[in-house]
Amino acid sequence: MSAGSTLVVGGGFVGTAVARRLAAAGESVTVASRRRPAAHLPVGDGVRWDALDATDPGACRRLVTRLKPRRVVLVHGPSDVTWCEEHPGQALRAHTAAAANLSSAAGDARLLMISTDNVFDGSRPDNAEDSPVSPANAYGHAKLCAEETLLGGAADAVVLRVSLVYGHEPPDAGKWLNFFAVCAHRLLRGETVAVPDDQWTTPVLVDDVAEVTAAVLHAGTPLPPVLHLGGPDRVSRAAWASLVAGTLGAPPHLVAPTSRAGTRYASRPENTCLTSSLLGRLPATKAIAVRGVHEGARSLAAAFTTAG
Ligand SMILES: NC(=O)c1ccc[n+]([C@@H]2O[C@H](COP(=O)([O-])OP(=O)(O)OC[C@H]3O[C@@H](n4cnc5c(N)ncnc54)[C@H](OP(=O)(O)O)[C@@H]3O)[C@@H](O)[C@H]2O)c1
Repeated sequence: MSAGSTLVVGGGFVGTAVARRLAAAGESVTVASRRRPAAHLPVGDGVRWDALDATDPGACRRLVTRLKPRRVVLVHGPSDVTWCEEHPGQALRAHTAAAANLSSAAGDARLLMISTDNVFDGSRPDNAEDSPVSPANAYGHAKLCAEETLLGGAADAVVLRVSLVYGHEPPDAGKWLNFFAVCAHRLLRGETVAVPDDQWTTPVLVDDVAEVTAAVLHAGTPLPPVLHLGGPDRVSRAAWASLVAGTLGAPPHLVAPTSRAGTRYASRPENTCLTSSLLGRLPATKAIAVRGVHEGARSLAAAFTTAG
């Protein structure tokens, strides 16, 4: 691997999008995860894959010693909020161990960790970088501990907290899909979607996450330790699902607004919304136009209606 390369730890929905974006710009990129990325997540030309369990300190040290990346992106799991709530100890150990292992192995490389709005308790409609943290759930707690580990242990580290990410995923992806994809597939099959009207988010397209991640990775130093990335629209899940239905031509009555209590969204706080007081001022990111939910839905419609 060349001196200017990037290691992306995590080959899932967000990690493969980041890897593709970097490789498309000609960068040498390695994705590392325990298993190869799934077939529906092609890492693309110019991206290598290596096996890595990021909770194993020796494995992290050996991989980083071999690859010598200039940049490392931590975008691994566990990512399922519901699973983390049921396995809080495992979630905490996995996220903090990976942050500790990679910050200690990576020397002076830039480390960027994709974190979450679940580090906030959801009592405020929006959270900027200087809002006080108070994790909403086990997932948010694990991610916050990992943030602190990374920022305390790496020479050049930045945490990019991202709101709910969405994009195309096929129905047979073999995992719980992102919210947009779940709604789109069900609505196109004529199925009802029961979605909370009491849980608010600022969704971001996965390609926009990749764009901002690439810009922050290559930004000049010094960077603020924490950056927020939320989409420009604050929507309830129910309103967003209605927008998806409208864009895909599905009957509006298929969207059934409900309370989040008793649904898989019960452990999510009322608000998982992020604003940024910094991203629009950084030279590297200020020109990036993060798309809102209308434009996002229009950009994805063809993928769902033709590819499935
Ligand atoms: N998706 C979102 O809306 C969102 C929003 C904010 C932040 N994030 C953060 O972004 C990260 C990735 O999210 P995602 O949606 O891309 O998740 P995902 O699709 O579930 O992918 C997770 C990836 O991490 C790998 N992984 C899990 N444990 C690992 C380990 N011990 N060592 C190495 N790789 C490991 C998984 O592969 P193996 O299991 O094969 O190792 C998989 O490739 C998470 O940390 C999440 O907190 C996501």
